Amino acid sequence: MGVTFLERLAARIARIGRRRGLRTDVAAVPDVPDPSRREFIRAGVGVVGGLAVAAVAPRLAPYPLANLARGLRDGTTPSGTGLAAAAPLITSPGHSGQHGLGHSGNIAVGEVDTKRMAYDPVPFLTQFDRGKVSQLPNGRTLREFQVVAHDREIEIAPGIFFPAWTFNGTVPGTTLRVREGDRVRIQFVNAGTHPHTMHFHGIHRAEMDGVPGVGPGEIPPGGSFTYEFDAIPFGLHQYHCHTLPLKRHIHKGLYGMFIIDPRQGRPPARELVMVMNAFDTNFDGENEVYAVNTVAFHYAKHPIRVKRNELVRIYVVNMTEFDPINSIHIHGNFFHVYRTGTSLVPSEYTDTIMLCQAERAILEVRFPYAGRFMFHAHQSEFTELGWMGVFEVTGDDDV
Ligand code: CU
Ligand code: CU
Repeated sequence: MGVTFLERLAARIARIGRRRGLRTDVAAVPDVPDPSRREFIRAGVGVVGGLAVAAVAPRLAPYPLANLARGLRDGTTPSGTGLAAAAPLITSPGHSGQHGLGHSGNIAVGEVDTKRMAYDPVPFLTQFDRGKVSQLPNGRTLREFQVVAHDREIEIAPGIFFPAWTFNGTVPGTTLRVREGDRVRIQFVNAGTHPHTMHFHGIHRAEMDGVPGVGPGEIPPGGSFTYEFDAIPFGLHQYHCHTLPLKRHIHKGLYGMFIIDPRQGRPPARELVMVMNAFDTNFDGENEVYAVNTVAFHYAKHPIRVKRNELVRIYVVNMTEFDPINSIHIHGNFFHVYRTGTSLVPSEYTDTIMLCQAERAILEVRFPYAGRFMFHAHQSEFTELGWMGVFEVTGDDDV
């Protein structure tokens, strides 16, 4: 007889607890693969529930696996065993003191440790690295950046850790921002344990393309290389590692947003960075956790505050691996779309756009009404696995 979904889920929870140095019934943990996302969904547990359950794994005391599985199935886990504590976690955030909004209340409860991670999705929304600016003899602006790749464990949902490869220590990497026609110089250092590159989208010479076998090719651990090119064309682009196997190097976290502002600029606005991403936590080629800017449901618990009627400009890049497409839908409103940001004239007025892997768009929106408005992927499965947030629009409505 095969190992059941619940037995594998129980084993996964026990392994998470054990990895974090907590007492678990090690002898009883069977050597079985983790349950896949599809299994979560088929089993009707819902990975949202799964996230919340996994979040309490650190608190699991030694506990027979059969009981663990039974408790998951019928909700009768004895008190004091960890899973009993999980039950109230899978409830409306309103009950647990969260100030955000849950979609039907089903979001992973708790908070990631932003200090430990040295990464907080809230300030990340509005952080732009414009580099060290100087003037070239020919009068052009030079912007210099330093990017270091290194391995780092990140927390992608409360209690769910992911062994990431990062640019400058965070996933996504820093948002790099330059102006059309600037000279861009990036000093890249590989302090990680695998060969990496930096591949920028844009127009540049072949040896600056950051792919294996061309120019410097892969930069080995301990190596470095300086990429240099002109910032063209203006628009919303990205950078990512291009070492093979590509999907693994990207998915591990080696990507970030690269904005080239048009020479004449864009109208003043409240500007926000959203990188759609997802994580394959058990390395089975499917994602289990989805988000914008890495942490599942973070902006549902910490709504993004905007003012009524102010122009909000959202830079959205899809860096999701394994799923060919992703999408963004904003509630109670419509927005103008600038695909790839390469035009100053919007091409579309809608409330939902779909982006293939690596596609990106600039969205401009004004909220005419105060209140809370959700935004999320319109693939419901992604939404339920973490890709959901809330705008909190402040200011009085007209009467
Ligand atoms: Cu790489
Ligand atoms: Cu690319």
